[in-house]
Order: sequence, then structure tokens, then C-alpha cells
Amino acid sequence: MYLSLSVLSVSLLAAQTALGKLYTEPSQLRSTTYDYVIVGAGTAGSVLANRLTEDQKIRVLVVEAGRSNNGSDVANIRIPFNAPLASPGTPFDWNFTTVNQPSLNNLPEPYPRGKVLGGSSSTNYLVYTRGASDDYDRLAKIAGDDGWTWDNLHPYILKHSSIVPPADGHNTTGQFDPAWHGNGPLRTSLAGFPAVIDPLVIQTTQVLSDEFPFNLDVNSGNPLGIGWTQSTIANGTRQSSAVAYLGPVLFRSNLDVLINTQVTRLIQTGHAGGKPDFRSIEFAQNAKSRRFRATARREVILSSGAVGTPQLLMLSGIGDRKALSKVGIKAIVNNPDVGEHLQDHPFLPLQWEVNSNETFDQIFYNPDLAAAVLDQWNRNHTGPLATNPVTNQLGFLRIPKNHSIWEQFEDPSSGPHAPHYEIAFGNSFVTTSAQDLPTSGGFLSITPIVVSPTSRGYVRLNTSNPFDQPLIDPAFLSTDYDVAVMVEAVKASQRYVAASPWKDYIIRPFIDSANTTTVEGIVEYSRQRTATTRHPTGTAQVGKVVNGDLTIKNVSGLRVVDASIFPFVPTGHTQAPTYIIAERAADIIKAAHRN
Ligand SMILES: Cc1cc2nc3c(=O)[nH]c(=O)nc-3n(C[C@H](O)[C@H](O)[C@H](O)COP(=O)(O)OP(=O)(O)OC[C@H]3O[C@@H](n4cnc5c(N)ncnc54)[C@H](O)[C@@H]3O)c2cc1C
Ligand SMILES: *[C@@H]1O[C@H](CO)[C@@H](O)[C@H](O)[C@H]1NC(C)=O
Ligand SMILES: *[C@@H]1O[C@H](CO)[C@@H](O)[C@H](O)[C@H]1NC(C)=O
Ligand SMILES: *[C@@H]1O[C@H](CO)[C@@H](O)[C@H](O)[C@H]1NC(C)=O
Ligand SMILES: *[C@@H]1O[C@H](CO)[C@@H](O)[C@H](O)[C@H]1NC(C)=O
Ligand SMILES: *[C@@H]1O[C@H](CO)[C@@H](O)[C@H](O)[C@H]1NC(C)=O
Ligand SMILES: *[C@@H]1O[C@H](CO)[C@@H](O)[C@H](O)[C@H]1NC(C)=O
Ligand SMILES: *[C@@H]1O[C@H](CO)[C@@H](O)[C@H](O)[C@H]1NC(C)=O
Ligand SMILES: *[C@@H]1O[C@H](CO)[C@@H](O)[C@H](O)[C@H]1NC(C)=O
Ligand SMILES: *[C@@H]1O[C@H](CO)[C@@H](O)[C@H](O)[C@H]1NC(C)=O
Ligand SMILES: *[C@@H]1O[C@H](CO)[C@@H](O)[C@H](O)[C@H]1NC(C)=O
Repeated sequence: MYLSLSVLSVSLLAAQTALGKLYTEPSQLRSTTYDYVIVGAGTAGSVLANRLTEDQKIRVLVVEAGRSNNGSDVANIRIPFNAPLASPGTPFDWNFTTVNQPSLNNLPEPYPRGKVLGGSSSTNYLVYTRGASDDYDRLAKIAGDDGWTWDNLHPYILKHSSIVPPADGHNTTGQFDPAWHGNGPLRTSLAGFPAVIDPLVIQTTQVLSDEFPFNLDVNSGNPLGIGWTQSTIANGTRQSSAVAYLGPVLFRSNLDVLINTQVTRLIQTGHAGGKPDFRSIEFAQNAKSRRFRATARREVILSSGAVGTPQLLMLSGIGDRKALSKVGIKAIVNNPDVGEHLQDHPFLPLQWEVNSNETFDQIFYNPDLAAAVLDQWNRNHTGPLATNPVTNQLGFLRIPKNHSIWEQFEDPSSGPHAPHYEIAFGNSFVTTSAQDLPTSGGFLSITPIVVSPTSRGYVRLNTSNPFDQPLIDPAFLSTDYDVAVMVEAVKASQRYVAASPWKDYIIRPFIDSANTTTVEGIVEYSRQRTATTRHPTGTAQVGKVVNGDLTIKNVSGLRVVDASIFPFVPTGHTQAPTYIIAERAADIIKAAHRN
């Protein structure tokens, strides 16, 4: 997704709190032996660092490749509206690129991943959705562990998050269901600044209530319908796992966090129960610098994300024997599924020119306005920069049972509460292509996403150098089903804006998305403009690479806790599901070592 926000990247007043206890060089570590070693202080890793150090006797080391989330240059990861500025090419991102995508006109795509405390929760677009109850029930079935069902995860759903008043303090009655929100450290909120389209989106749920019913809370386990977006924003500021989970416990003397340091491989330390035991890690600050080691008495936990985790497993000899030998790595555990089956959500923006000068586009065109809204945010964390940059409302929809698509394809969704596609409403020009960016006019964007894709790709090693990026193939739109659902999602978006509330608002479709008047046109446009929703999952999935308790098959001493464990990508944005599984994993780990 590309948003032109560069006018806003004025440096912030350095109003940051002092750094907590963070080590910036391996030589500063006080020890080489810990109870647990966590690789990656991202979304899941920070949850584990917090929960495992609740017991003061337990010593934990976290090693994070990225930088601190605090400092004088982090405005773009704190100001919600500036989220698109923490993108590839900035110091907060790994700057990965996919291999050429045959179904996207054979071009490569940028593939953003957070490289900072909080990981991708520090750089994402803040949308907070849990997916469908059926998604978790399917996970439980595959895992052979009832603990992963939606009902049984309920305590963790309420434990990790809470909902707080939005930045503009508006009355949110009727915009969410308090029954589904708990008292956890990750604070979320509804739209923090009104958008001119808000009433039109909501009125359409009344006018077209059969197809697009209003859903009071898409986070109830039944996401179907159109509802208000919840975002990981509190007090007008981004809430990440670094802000919610890690920062607040950095004072604990049993927690060591080492940043700017990449784990380069896991080292076999022996055998346990007839399986190779991996309880040491090797780490370094760059390809040429000295390599250090640390060892976990209990276990090493991989929370390096859906790209980093399989990469590290393969670098350590856990993967497909043949593929590893091609890059000169000897397999210790032959598992051909490591890194395979990558699943992500294809995202396609549509835009309409509208009869308004109150869209957020004005902020991008007018430097004085941009300076004024930045000034306002700096003063009291309110104004347009305090809200989600892409959407105040979104919805999750199923293709009806009697639709002809089901004559051709089997329904891959996890159950009747799970959507096939999502649409989100944006009060500005949202695009995946810099060349589309307008310099005047007001725009509405709707962004269809195939949330039940059947395409699967991979993460593979290109070389044995841990500092070389792996080969990443999300295989976007590589199945006919995914293309067919994208076509339906585009048509649904067009029906939405054809409803009466939009009559005087919409002027015309934007020139490029105007190509979408025929099925052939939609398909061609999709192949040109589809990009990642940044939801990679499945590369160390339950059932194939990890067991139901997230330990790695045929290996001792290692567990995976991050978005790579999902056998199917959840049918929503993936941060909430990641927090939820991390909270339960913390309890699984504590229980495994209770004696
Ligand atoms: C730009 C962007 C926008 C997104 N928008 C949304 C959204 O709006 N809503 C939503 O729900 N989801 C969104 N997502 C997806 C969501 O943020 C992720 O699914 C989720 O945060 C993944 O959590 P994780 O713990 O698996 O990985 P991450 O949070 O990415 O954490 C992995 C951590 O491991 C570190 N690491 C990796 N390799 C190593 C190594 N070898 N040594 C040491 N450290 C290592 C990384 O630097 C990182 O900090 C977005 C993601 C991105 C990148
Ligand atoms: C990011 O990657 C691109 C190539 O994909 C490269 O041109 C660019 O220099 C990289 N940027 C940084 C900051 O590493
Ligand atoms: C918010 O609105 C609801 C109904 O719309 C009303 O009952 C409630 O009193 C309002 N709350 C506040 C704090 O004004
Ligand atoms: C960064 O600063 C914020 C406050 O601005 C604080 O809440 C958070 O805990 C800090 N994070 C770290 C890792 O120090
Ligand atoms: C684990 O090891 C057993 C016995 O060697 C083997 O049959 C099985 O296929 C292995 N599983 C995986 C996922 O590699
Ligand atoms: C915005 O539009 C209104 C009416 O459509 C007009 O009165 C006003 O001058 C416009 N403002 C700007 C800044 O263009
Ligand atoms: C925040 O500042 C703006 C001016 O920049 C002001 O209009 C607004 O009332 C302030 N809001 C709060 C909650 O203080
Ligand atoms: C919210 O932000 C304002 C403005 O920066 C700050 O003064 C206030 O302390 C913050 N409140 C909380 C609860 O963090
Ligand atoms: C599907 O069923 C609905 C009523 O449930 C009906 O309105 C619609 O026309 C049917 N569509 C097709 C393609 O038969
Ligand atoms: C893979 O490695 C080769 C060199 O060994 C390099 O030329 C190529 O660019 C790499 N591919 C990617 C996608 O990084
Ligand atoms: C729109 O259609 C024109 C003419 O057929 C074509 O050149 C252009 O590439 C299309 N744009 C997109 C984004 O599909």
C-alpha cells in the first residue's frame, strides 16, 4: 500500500521517555545462560518476554535484530496516520522483496516486515480484527488440541486487549460491543477523528441491509457484516507489543533485551528423548562482526515472524534436506514443510473521485494543512493524525451459497462465520502504486481483500548467509479461486457505492480503477494493482512443522510462537490472532516446566 505522506515526516519534538534496560551490544550481556531465550521482540516475542518474566526466578533473554521503538526519530511509528511511512527502505523495516509474481504480471513486490521492538506491530496499519470463531476451531482441529478453539481461547481474547475512548472523545455507544472487550495491556480504540464518509458508509448498511448488514462488533467471533474499525491506538498514539507488553517490564531484573543483533542460527546442544536438542543460539550485529552465543536451560522460543522463523530453522539445518544441501547446509532434521505453504492476503485498492474537499487527501496536497495537523498532534495527540490512516469502517462478507462460483470451487473457508473477502472504506486515495497518486481532488477508496485465499507460496533460503534475504513467494492470485473471489469483492464494492447515500457524493471512478467494468477488466486491473496486506502466515504451521503445543516436530528444546504457526491465514488482519496465540503459548510454556 502506498500513501503519499512525506510532507508529514517533519521531525518530532523529542518527547520520548528514556530507554529502559536495553543492551545494544552483545558484549554487554550479563550472562550466557538463561532459562528461556526468545528470538525476536516482535508482536508475539514481546508478549512472551512479559509473561515469562512474571516469575522473578525465571531469567529471560530476548534478542531482536531491529532497533528500539523509542528515540528521536520514531515519529512515524508513533503517529497513527503516519504508519505508511515506516515502510521498506526505512530503518524500521527489513526491506524484503518477493520473487517475481507470475500472476501479477511477473513483477516483484515489496514485502514489508517490522524490524524494531514490537516487530510488525510497531509498523503495521493498526487495524485490530480477530477473525472468525471458525478459524480458531479449525486450528484446534488441526492441532488436535481443544485449547485453541474460540471458546477456549476466550480468556486470552479478553486478557490481551482492552478498548479505550478514541482520540476525539466521541460517544462510541453503538459502535462496538463492550462484552467482547477485556482489560488487557494492548489498548485499542474506535475511529479517533471523524471522516466525511462515516455517515454514508453506515447509511448504506441500512439501505442494503440484506447484502451488507451492520455488525456492531466484528471482533465477536462473527465478523460478517460492516462495522466500525477498532485500531491499536490509545490517546492518539500507536499501541504496539513494545508499548503494551515489553516497555512496561523492562525494569524487571530477570529480563535482558538485546537489540540491533540478529540471531544467525540455532545450535544443536545434544540429544534429548532421541531427538536433536537445540538450546543454544548464535548471534551477531552484522555479517562481518564477531559471533556470540547464549544457551537456554529450558527452551529457545522462535518469535521471528513468518519470514524470520523459517529462515532461521533452515539456517540451522531444520528443513528440506535437498533444498538445504543446495545452499551448502547439512540437514539435521529433514522436514520438507519448513518455509512452505506461505499464505497471505491479496489486497486491491479501488478509488472514486468525490464531491468533497474534506477528505484526508487535502493533508497530502497542502503543506500548511500538513504542518497544522502535525502541530495539533504534537500538542495534544488529537486531529486527523490521531486516527487510522486507511479506514474507519470495514466489513467481512461471504459469497452466497447459491452463487455460481460454488459450482466451480469448493468453499475453502473455515465455517459459516468466516468471510471469503473483506472490504475497507478509506477517506482518501489509497493505492499500491505510486504512479496513480493524484495531486488534487477528493477521493473515496475501497480496498477488497481475499481473506480466504487458496494460493500458497514459500519462504526459502537463497544462500547460507543469514544476512542475505530469503526468497519470498506469497504466490498472489495464483489460483482461479482467489481471482474469482477478488472479482466478486470488486463487484460488491461497486454495488456498495451505487447505493442511494452516495448519489451526490461520488463523481466518477478514478481513471485506473475505472477499468473494472467487466470481469476481464477487473482481472487485468487486479494483476496490475494487487499487493500484500502484509499478513504472511503458515511457514512453520501447526500439524506440519510444529505440534499442537507449538514445539517443533522431531526436535527438542525449541518452540515457535508467532504468525508462522497458522495452518490457514486467519480471515482478518493478523495481529490480534498473533497476540491471542502468544498469550496462550505463554501459559503452555509455563505449564510445561511446572514441577
Ligand atoms: C506494514 C504492515 C502493515 C500491517 N498492517 C496490519 C494491520 O493493520 N492489522 C493487523 O492486524 N496486522 C497487520 N499487519 C500484520 C501484523 O502486524 C503481523 O501479522 C504480526 O505483527 C506478526 O507478528 P509476529 O510476532 O509473527 O512477527 P513480527 O511482529 O514481525 O516479529 C518478528 C520479530 O522478529 C525479529 N527478527 C526476525 N528475524 C530475527 C533474527 N534472525 N534475529 C533476531 N530477531 C529477528 C524481527 O525484527 C521482528 O521484530 C501488518 C504488517 C505490516 C508489516
Ligand atoms: C531496499 O531494497 C531495494 C531493492 O529492493 C534497494 O534498492 C534499496 O537500496 C534498499 N533500501 C535500503 C535502505 O536498504
Ligand atoms: C452515549 O450515547 C448513548 C446513546 O446514544 C447514551 O445513552 C449515553 O448516555 C451517551 N453517553 C454519554 C457519556 O454521553
Ligand atoms: C517507549 O516509550 C513509551 C512512552 O513513550 C513507553 O510506553 C514504552 O514502554 C517505551 N518502550 C520501550 C521499549 O522502552
Ligand atoms: C519425525 O520423525 C519420524 C521418525 O523418524 C518420521 O517418521 C516423521 O516423518 C518425522 N516427522 C517430521 C514432520 O519430520
Ligand atoms: C470546500 O467546499 C466548500 C463547498 O463545497 C466551499 O465552500 C469551500 O470553499 C471549499 N474549501 C476549500 C478549501 O476549497
Ligand atoms: C487539541 O488541540 C486543538 C488545537 O490544536 C484544540 O482545538 C483541541 O480542543 C485540543 N483538544 C483537547 C482534547 O485538548
Ligand atoms: C495523552 O497524551 C497527552 C498529550 O501528549 C499527554 O499529556 C497525556 O499524559 C497522555 N495521557 C495518557 C493517559 O497517556
Ligand atoms: C440466491 O438467493 C437469494 C435469496 O436467498 C436470491 O435473492 C438470489 O437471486 C439468488 N441468486 C442466484 C444467483 O440464484
Ligand atoms: C540470490 O542470490 C544470488 C547470488 O547468489 C543473487 O544474485 C540474487 O540476487 C539473490 N536473489 C534474491 C532474491 O535476493
Ligand atoms: C486500464 O486500461 C488501459 C487501457 O486498456 C490499460 O492501458 C491500463 O493498463 C489499464 N490499467 C490498469 C491498472 O489495469
